[in-house]
Amino acid sequence: MSNETATSPVTEPILLSAALGSFEALWSPRIVTRVNDYDVRVAKVAGEHVWHVHEDTDEFFLVVDGALDIALRDGEDGGERCVTLERGAVFVVPRGVWHRPRADRGASILLFEPSGTSTVGDAHDEVPGHVDVTTGHALGT
Ligand code: NI
Repeated sequence: MSNETATSPVTEPILLSAALGSFEALWSPRIVTRVNDYDVRVAKVAGEHVWHVHEDTDEFFLVVDGALDIALRDGEDGGERCVTLERGAVFVVPRGVWHRPRADRGASILLFEPSGTSTVGDAHDEVPGHVDVTTGHALGT
């Protein structure tokens, strides 16, 4: 075992498949590494997350496996739309845009966002019990 903490910049390659294979919890991101003051997080997801907004940061998504739908309230009149991210797709939810990820068939995703960013943002609807309110867990926990 390395004595590096999970959130230190990695000094050896990390397979995303191995990182994703190290935990089972849904909607509960693990921090794979950091880049400056950003986290690279991976998460397993299935079903619906919760409507929320990050007022001060964009949020980057990469679908590693499966497919992810993200509902967005970014219309000029606050109207909703939904984008579907197939495996390999990337997408950025701009700061200030309410969004709700969802994966009916399940997915594995990579997130890139400032360390300390909450999974449920700065404001959110009522958080369902299956959603972990966290700023990310260390890999291996
Ligand atoms: Ni978000």
